[in-house]
Amino acid sequence: MPVRFQLNGVLIEENDVSPSMTVLDYLRENRLLKGTKEGCAEGDCGACSITIQSALGRVKTVNSCLMLVPQLDGMSVLTVEGLSAPDAPPHPVQQAIVDNHAAQCGFCTPGFVMALYAFTQTGETVTPDSIHEAIAGNLCRCTGYRPIVDAAVSLGSKAEKVIPPAIEQSEYYTDGNEDFFAPRSLGDLVALKSQHPEAFVLAGGTDLAMRASKDRQPFGQVISTANVTELNQIERDEVSVTFGAAVNYTRALPVLEDIAPSFAQLVRRLGSRQIRNLGTIGGNICNASPIGDTPPCLIALDATMIVHGTGGRREIPADAFFTDYRKTALEPDEILEAIRVPLPSPELVFRAYKVSKRFDQDISAVVGGFAVKIENGIVISARVSLGGMAARPARAPTCEAALIGQPWTLDTAIAAGTVLAEEFTPLTDFRASQGYRARVAGNLLQRFYLDTTQQDMPVEVMAL
Ligand SMILES: Cc1cc2nc3c(=O)[nH]c(=O)nc-3n(C[C@H](O)[C@H](O)[C@H](O)COP(=O)(O)OP(=O)(O)OC[C@H]3O[C@@H](n4cnc5c(N)ncnc54)[C@H](O)[C@@H]3O)c2cc1C
Ligand code: FES
Ligand code: FES
Repeated sequence: MPVRFQLNGVLIEENDVSPSMTVLDYLRENRLLKGTKEGCAEGDCGACSITIQSALGRVKTVNSCLMLVPQLDGMSVLTVEGLSAPDAPPHPVQQAIVDNHAAQCGFCTPGFVMALYAFTQTGETVTPDSIHEAIAGNLCRCTGYRPIVDAAVSLGSKAEKVIPPAIEQSEYYTDGNEDFFAPRSLGDLVALKSQHPEAFVLAGGTDLAMRASKDRQPFGQVISTANVTELNQIERDEVSVTFGAAVNYTRALPVLEDIAPSFAQLVRRLGSRQIRNLGTIGGNICNASPIGDTPPCLIALDATMIVHGTGGRREIPADAFFTDYRKTALEPDEILEAIRVPLPSPELVFRAYKVSKRFDQDISAVVGGFAVKIENGIVISARVSLGGMAARPARAPTCEAALIGQPWTLDTAIAAGTVLAEEFTPLTDFRASQGYRARVAGNLLQRFYLDTTQQDMPVEVMAL
């Protein structure tokens, strides 16, 4: 079956495009749609932003440099050229950029236009925070952001909603050399994984697509989880929420906000809206990066990884899932099916902290997940988990022992922080030195204490 999608209103069928080709290359080279720019080719600048929408879904802005062409199957795709007809007046978003003098060299402008177009389509209330979040994934090097924000403010959220046509999706695409499988059921996914052990499992692709966009390496065989029904579900019962491994951050966020607001706050700083629209918690876990943002939070919350292979389903506690640097407990024939997060009990005090050089769109130097229960002023249980401090995200048992049985006071937090700083031997790299990581990790315990006990104490400095 060909890859079928609507591009700027025209139905396209592609039969011989390499499945390893990025959407950005495809748009610019095969379709000569050069309005979509290449800045970084790694998801950082937003110059390549386009929007995608399925018949049932909402408009999403994504980085076309991090998408493979078969991921467009069934989508309606809009590039900056498609916002208004060639002989029609500019689209209101484009006109707002002009009216507010929001472009100088203009290189970033198509990306901003597409991010703002998607923003108007979400129907969000226009506030400084919502604008900030909507364009945090777009860099401008010469105009400065004030006129761009002015343009966003002038737009409001009054856009007409467009419902794209339903386009049948295929389960298999090949250009004759490489294969792209897009199974719809968990059974088919597991069968394909065992039949093609060398195939790359692709969720959102925000990590994996770097192989195509940066390394320029073909994939050979890809098995996409994006259309697997079971992996796209979010199920809630009295004791837990289970996120299918292919649920993207944008979908997970409202649920996280409800069950663990601090975790949601951290996820809002994970990448940009473009990244969160495609990227998944499952991908973050299976990537097993020592500086991934969600694993320390999931370990602190005592989550369970549900994995599935030819032998069936099994469950692995989050703190046993990460075995070494970028290694997990998954067997070669297994995939991650879902992540079960227990609903935090009312007496659980939980916070997640991300320390990075920039507030937005930055990889963490240190991530901390802290969960304690206090009874009569005494810490009766503690789970402390850190990322960025070792080859894998890990609990801090000595620090936990230094907390349990102690009164929940600043002195206890400081003492446990000292233990924590000594418990790991972090690396020095371009994000942070060993000394900085150790010290900041220890200090996070003080922050945790102050944050959860001194309501009036500001522990976060925000730009206004
Ligand atoms: C600009 C940019 C900013 C970023 N910022 C952050 C950040 O702030 N914090 C952070 O933690 N990460 C960040 N990332 C990394 C990335 O976005 C996240 O790790 C994301 O969660 C990956 O999810 P994905 O669905 O895109 O995974 P993919 O790229 O599709 O896959 C990642 C890995 O997981 C495997 N995999 C995926 N799903 C499964 C499954 N169900 N079973 C088995 N294996 C599977 C894949 O084979 C691959 O090895 C950033 C990336 C970019 C490009
Ligand atoms: S080219 Fe920079 S985000 Fe895609
Ligand atoms: S106008 Fe030049 S980079 Fe934004």
